[in-house]
Amino acid sequence: MSDQTNMLSSVVQRIGRATALDATAKKISDSVDTVTRPTWLKNALSGSWLGHQLHPVLTDLPIGAWGAAVALDLTGGEESAAAARRLVGLGILASAPTAMSGASDWSSTRGADKRVGLIHALSNAVATTLQAGSWLARRSGHRRTGVALSAIGLSITLASAHLGGHLSFVRGIGVNRTAFQRPTRKWADVAADSEILDGTLVRVMVNDVPVLLTRQAGRLRAISAVCTHAGGPLEEGTLDPDGCITCPWHGSRFHLEDGAVARGPASVPQPVWEVDVVDERILLRSAGNA
Ligand code: FES
Repeated sequence: MSDQTNMLSSVVQRIGRATALDATAKKISDSVDTVTRPTWLKNALSGSWLGHQLHPVLTDLPIGAWGAAVALDLTGGEESAAAARRLVGLGILASAPTAMSGASDWSSTRGADKRVGLIHALSNAVATTLQAGSWLARRSGHRRTGVALSAIGLSITLASAHLGGHLSFVRGIGVNRTAFQRPTRKWADVAADSEILDGTLVRVMVNDVPVLLTRQAGRLRAISAVCTHAGGPLEEGTLDPDGCITCPWHGSRFHLEDGAVARGPASVPQPVWEVDVVDERILLRSAGNA
C-alpha cells in the first residue's frame, strides 16, 4: 500500500472511531427519518423506482458542473465567465436533491459508517456554501474571488467524494446484498408441505442461498431471505395482510408476488423463487429459469 493510500485510510479510520460525532449524527438522522416518513418520498429518494440507489446518479451533476466551471476558469478566459457562473449555479441547484437522497441513504447506516457519512455530508455542505459564495461573487463582478472560492469548493467536494467512495465500495453501503447469489435452475426439495403453516415465515436453504418461504391464505410463496438493502433477515420480518413482507432492520417492504419494492430504503427488488408441491414436498427454484 502506498503512503498516500495509507494516509487516506487512516483519516477515514479516525473519523470512523470518532464517537463524539454520535450524538449529532443521531439528531440529524432522526430528523431525516421524520422528514422521509411518507412512502412516496422515501421511495423517490432511495431510487426504489429506479432499481438502484439514486444518490450516486445525482452526485455526477454538481461534481460535473463545478468541475466544468473550474476547467473554464482555468482555460477559457474572460469570454467564458458567464458560462462558468451558470455552471456554478447549476451545481448548486443540483446539490439539493443530491444531498436529500444521500441523507436518506445515510440515515440507515450505523456506527463507523454513520460517522464517516456525517463528515461526508458536512464537507459537502461546506463545499456548497463556498460555491454559493462563488456564484454571488461572480454575479457582483468579483470574478477572481469567485474563481478562488469555486476551486476551494471543488477540492472539498472531491475529498468528500473519497469518503462516499469508501462507504460504497469498501463498506458496501447501497450494494445489493443478493447480487452474488447464483440462481438455482433445478428444483430443490426444501420442506414437507405440512411444515409451512399459514402466516409463518420460514428460512430454508437452496444450495447456499437462504430463501424465505411463507404461506398466506393457503398460497405458498418464496423470495430470497436476505434483504437486498443491507442484508436484513426477512424471515424475522412481518408478513402484512396486503401480501408484503416488512424487513425488521430498516422497514423496507417487498411484494411477495414479484419481489418488487413497496417501500424503501431498499431500491433493488428481492429475487423471487418458483414454488411447486409434489408428493407433499415443497420444491423451489429461481424464477425465470423454466
Ligand atoms: S436491511 Fe435495510 S431494510 Fe432490510
